[in-house]
Amino acid sequence: MNNPVKMWQDEHARFSRLLDFLDAQMLAFHEGGHPNYELMRDIIHYLKHYADCYHHPREDVAFALLLDREPDLAPVIKRLMHEHRVINIAGDTLYNYLDDILEDTVISREKVETAAATYLVYYRAHIESEDSRVLPAAARLMTPGDWAKVAAAVPPHADPLFGSDVGARYRDLHTQIKREQEFNS
Ligand SMILES: [Fe+2]
Ligand SMILES: [Fe+2]
Repeated sequence: MNNPVKMWQDEHARFSRLLDFLDAQMLAFHEGGHPNYELMRDIIHYLKHYADCYHHPREDVAFALLLDREPDLAPVIKRLMHEHRVINIAGDTLYNYLDDILEDTVISREKVETAAATYLVYYRAHIESEDSRVLPAAARLMTPGDWAKVAAAVPPHADPLFGSDVGARYRDLHTQIKREQEFNS
């Protein structure tokens, strides 16, 4: 069986890569360059439809199990659970702004920059807390039965961006990621 903690970490690394791409596009936006708004919107779409719908619900089950085992984790876990809702709402806001830009609706730069900064800061800090505080505890405390409950939290769903069968919506984003991988290797 695959190591569930490693799979969890790997998923975070993939999300972080998308956040880095989003950040680089926002820098171009800030400097008056030409960000790729379609790809930015696809990133938020993926994070909303994959992370929010599959990754976070599994985490919520793992968090509840860990709270039982190690009550000292309560402050960090309660904050992380709350952040799942904040990330979801911040993602909606940013997605709608990107939609507005792509539909040529006039929108202030400050609004877009604030929404993107909020999303990026929140999301990165969230992943960092999970990697540093929760995953080590999960590796120590969770049993195979616990991991089965985590897996059963949502129906199995292949990753439509990083999996073997890339969804039609994410083809351009997938190509971009591959290109960057080749460039960096
Ligand atoms: Fe999370
Ligand atoms: Fe996570």
